[in-house]
Amino acid sequence: MRRIVVGITGGASGVVYGVRLLETVRKYSSNTEVHLVISGTAVDIMRHELGISKEHVRNLVDKVYDENELGGAPIASGSFKHDGMVIIPCSMKTLASIVHGITDNLITRAADVTLKERRKLILVIRETPLNLIHIKNMELATLAGAVVMPAAPAFYNRPRTIDDMVNFIVGRVLDLLGIENDLYNRWSGYSEDAT
Ligand SMILES: Cc1cc2nc3c(=O)[nH]c(=O)nc-3n(C[C@H](O)[C@H](O)[C@H](O)COP(=O)(O)O)c2cc1C
Repeated sequence: MRRIVVGITGGASGVVYGVRLLETVRKYSSNTEVHLVISGTAVDIMRHELGISKEHVRNLVDKVYDENELGGAPIASGSFKHDGMVIIPCSMKTLASIVHGITDNLITRAADVTLKERRKLILVIRETPLNLIHIKNMELATLAGAVVMPAAPAFYNRPRTIDDMVNFIVGRVLDLLGIENDLYNRWSGYSEDAT
């Protein structure tokens, strides 16, 4: 049995990545238990960008928590064992809170705990361009042991649809979590069919 914690924050123009992860993780790893926490901003953005409510994602996971549910959620404690946490997308605000130890909601607390227990923490950021504060915060996150993963889809796999681009990022996240998947076409050398 594998257990992962997923955070979805209001890194606007990116909640689709978090939802796709939830939609696919069980397909590739049916024995993965998923614990989800979504920020209030992410709920608003899910409605705006994807036209879906929290109920949609609730049905895709084993346990869903409110971001204010600090006291009652097992993921707030290091005693809750898991195989990694991914925040997808991770807003610059949540990144800043994590790297400065501000654990005032369940997402930042669970991330803080993940780092202190030396477990895998993946932060899928979506912001461009970046200011020095963002870059310094990413440096701090990396030094603290997190993997900072910009949601920057590749083009070597010749994506044809938005879905292809979303699947590339989610597939790379599953790779980092150690979950075998065929969500995207892996690089296999230059193709010969140029016109
Ligand atoms: C129109 C709009 C676009 C935004 N785009 C981004 C973005 O691309 N990346 C980001 O990190 N934050 C973005 N934000 C800011 C976050 O939504 C904001 O910092 C929010 O407080 C994050 O809260 P949370 O991390 O608790 O979900 C955007 C906000 C708005 C209103």
